[in-house]
Amino acid sequence: MKGDVNMEQDLRLDTGYLEGFVSENDLGSIFPEVKKAHALLTDRTGPGNDFLGWMDLPESTTADMLGDIEECADRMKRNSDIVIIIGIGGSYLGAKAAIEMMAPRLGEKKVLFAGHNLCGGYLEEFLKMVKSRDRDISVNVISKSGTTTEPAIAFRVVEDFMRKRYGAAGLKDRIVCTTDKKRGALRSMADAMGYRSFVIPEDVGGRFSVLTAAGLLPVACADINIRGIIAGARRARERSASCDPDGNISYKYAAVRNILYRKGKNIEIFSNFDHGFHYVAEWWKQLFGESEGKGEKGIFPASCDFTTDLHSMGQWIQAGSRNIFETFLIEDREDSDCPIPGKEEDPDGLNYLSGKQVSFVNKQAYQATAAAHFEGGVPNSTIFLPERSAFCLGQLFYFLEKAVAVSAYVLGVNPFDQPGVDSYKKKMFEFLGKPGH
Ligand code: PA5
Repeated sequence: MKGDVNMEQDLRLDTGYLEGFVSENDLGSIFPEVKKAHALLTDRTGPGNDFLGWMDLPESTTADMLGDIEECADRMKRNSDIVIIIGIGGSYLGAKAAIEMMAPRLGEKKVLFAGHNLCGGYLEEFLKMVKSRDRDISVNVISKSGTTTEPAIAFRVVEDFMRKRYGAAGLKDRIVCTTDKKRGALRSMADAMGYRSFVIPEDVGGRFSVLTAAGLLPVACADINIRGIIAGARRARERSASCDPDGNISYKYAAVRNILYRKGKNIEIFSNFDHGFHYVAEWWKQLFGESEGKGEKGIFPASCDFTTDLHSMGQWIQAGSRNIFETFLIEDREDSDCPIPGKEEDPDGLNYLSGKQVSFVNKQAYQATAAAHFEGGVPNSTIFLPERSAFCLGQLFYFLEKAVAVSAYVLGVNPFDQPGVDSYKKKMFEFLGKPGH
């Protein structure tokens, strides 16, 4: 199991490079609004208050529920060489983020994803690859509504392939559905076919569902410690329970974002220096973009993978329009032991680094970037993850969920609906000629 629980490992938010952009006065003035947002959440009286189930998941997810998920994941792993996860948006990104962050960076993946796009070529190649490897497969199809077109199509294709391979009777052992308790086509199919199923609670929205079976089952299939994730979320929940402006880093982050937004910084770049954090940023983009981008308001969430993007987007960030701010996600611990070898002649002039770890150089790159961007007029903060563990990841998920809820209330929008996404879904049904649309 990867990711042992270590209660000592708390997330930190460093706001040193906000000096001159966000003052103590600014924080003091916005604090009453944060307090109001906090009350809307705790009294459950704000817009979208029928979607607050995510707040309690760290406590309401019992050991028995985790045991069920682990047992199901074990069975799927025993049954198959490849576990296929079908889902999109909130039914995809949390698990993808966790697996990319926690699983080894290279090597053959046991958990593969489909249904997160409508690219026919992808699905065709995907099936060809599964067929050609002649490996046994199991599927976890995830859709809260049970009607989203992308995963529905992928599931139909994959289920058809599996029926031919395993026969109708063999499907029950290999297909698991994660969906609403009562509603939607996926629920009806699961019940009709007798597929094993897990529930995404009604009061938990898609992008807030990573701590339900929607995120935990795929993650358990990748051998990541889901109890560690829940323990981390519980820790973040404790830390964000009171409205203390300094101790509650979710609220501090929410306050800082709104202060900067009001000063014309309407783009936030979530930057990392670690290959494994790319999908954490994708998950963050969905969480913040879908929760805040409405009513013609909202900070546009963008992301960069450094140092790669320093050689492309770095120019824009350093010297383009000054309407941006940046949030770095950094692992405190140097995670690799890949030392730079010395060379007798020093032909490339790198001997001054010989014996140093590549991760040491990366750490200096982060520090240099944060300083240079600040000097270039880009206020920035850093979320420090003490280590790459399930416990820290669980904290990160909950920390950001709480932050976006408060941030959106301060902004004056309902964090829990997504009328824009629904508009696209409806329009597409019209264009496709779906009966009833
Ligand atoms: O946050 C949301 O609700 C959406 O982005 C959904 O996660 C996404 O549209 C997928 O929906 P579903 O899980 O119903 O297939």
